[in-house]
Amino acid sequence: MQIILCESAEHVGGRAADVIDARVRQGPAVLGLATGGSPKSTYQELIRRHREEQLSFSQVTAFTLDEYAGLPPEHEQSYYSTIRREFADHVDLPLEQLITPHGDAPDLVAEAERYDAAITAAGGVDIQILGIGANGHIGFNEPTSSLVSRTRVKTLAGATRADNARFFPEGDVPRLCLTQGLGTIREAKLAVLVAMGENKAEAVQAMVEGPVSAHCPASVLQMHRRAVVILDPAAASRLSLLDYYRDAQEFNDQLGQTPTRPWLQQPLVQQG
Ligand code: GLP
Repeated sequence: MQIILCESAEHVGGRAADVIDARVRQGPAVLGLATGGSPKSTYQELIRRHREEQLSFSQVTAFTLDEYAGLPPEHEQSYYSTIRREFADHVDLPLEQLITPHGDAPDLVAEAERYDAAITAAGGVDIQILGIGANGHIGFNEPTSSLVSRTRVKTLAGATRADNARFFPEGDVPRLCLTQGLGTIREAKLAVLVAMGENKAEAVQAMVEGPVSAHCPASVLQMHRRAVVILDPAAASRLSLLDYYRDAQEFNDQLGQTPTRPWLQQPLVQQG
């Protein structure tokens, strides 16, 4: 796991965009897209680079991470609509290459299996963008999710429904969802998790330094071959090895192995 400490929340999106930019410019790529507030600044920076720096997504296939069950894609709060509004509609990603699980499928179990198989058939995800819930969830893999789970139907935790209630003013937050499993996410070649704010600090500490445990689903990233965690000072504030992360980051920067460079092919000096 590589920890990147940013001087402010504003820098987090830029750092994550650097990683994605470097891969997308190499040729056809498969991206995994998260929704939520955390990756918004990453998407905004990618949109800016598309407009101003010829960053093209025409050869990208994108799979979203999760979806509310019961919502048709055109519902304003579906994650399909959300990712279009916040990213896809502002770049040259062909819509037929934006793939999401269908929350209104008549057979959700079959839909989950179909979706998981579609990711594999596309050659797997090259870069999976992730946020983290305050309870340690990634995607909608709530605490006690199997660490080897595949895309499936899940029941949302009360805390997650409360966090997301702001998007459902009528109070009708769905109870079920479809989400890529932790085993599915672990297969992405690179996972990039962004977190900002004090309310994420406890979950970030558990993910990075706690035991690998279904109690903190994001801790499965400790078992990921290449995970990059990009944090603002508030989200990093409870980490106990901050000096080590800072030192390793400075050393990597000196070596030129920052995410702005072709480090994707190189071994990282920092942790395994
Ligand atoms: C949501 C999403 C996750 C997201 C998380 C945190 O419920 N399913 O993909 O990472 O919660 O959201 P936010 O970034 O808005 O804090």
